Amino acid sequence: MKKKRLGVNIDHVATIRNARGEKYPDPLTAALLAQKEGASSITVHLREDRRHIKDFDLKKLKEKLKIPINLEMAPTYSMLRTALRCKPKYVCIVPEKRQEITTEGGLNVNKNFKLLKSIIKKLNKRKISVSLFIEPKISDIKLAKLLNVNAIELHTGKFCNLFNNKKNYNKEFNNLKKASLYADKIGLNVHAGHGITYESLYKLCKINKITEYNIGHFLISDSIFNGLPNVIRKVKKIIKL
Ligand code: PXP
Repeated sequence: MKKKRLGVNIDHVATIRNARGEKYPDPLTAALLAQKEGASSITVHLREDRRHIKDFDLKKLKEKLKIPINLEMAPTYSMLRTALRCKPKYVCIVPEKRQEITTEGGLNVNKNFKLLKSIIKKLNKRKISVSLFIEPKISDIKLAKLLNVNAIELHTGKFCNLFNNKKNYNKEFNNLKKASLYADKIGLNVHAGHGITYESLYKLCKINKITEYNIGHFLISDSIFNGLPNVIRKVKKIIKL
């Protein structure tokens, strides 16, 4: 069985910092703490409007961290240039809309196929491992395979929202399960992210083909009350890392 991984997303440390334009809390301090607690990687979403992580954060993280960076980015040539300059170990390509509060859905792989192909080719050439943030749809997984990516990251937002609000989540959960099985069968690594809490993580861990979880908002939120090291320890315990 493949080893499980935890990507700690520190975007919202930057959100708090940016709310007052101060230097604290410093995302790098959070990343170093996460590293010390055994996080597998640090995930950051450098949004086009730079609403949380900024370019200088990415530079500092790259200089100081020993564990890999997973850079989430929109499929644009401007972001590609940033990625090629920074050279993170991993890039996760995500859709981006200016007005959204958070990443609302997976990529439209079919519509953006040509653009994705060109961007992924350039990332792969520089040995940057690429994942695509998609909905749990078999047709998108087939296209992801054609695009030569290393992994897919399944958008767990819909499932987590239903689960956390005690609504019927069976259909969404089964879609995630089927998608994970299929992706694994055709040789893609399966990651999961968005909206994950302790309880929804327990449930997602029943899908054993998921090997990486990227968790941000809840993890940083609970750290306010329980401290980042304790929260990371608890998450690691759930995923048996
Ligand atoms: N994975 C991807 C691809 C994302 O875009 C996000 C949100 O930036 C996350 C994981 C983390 O989601 P959350 O902050 O809800 O845990």
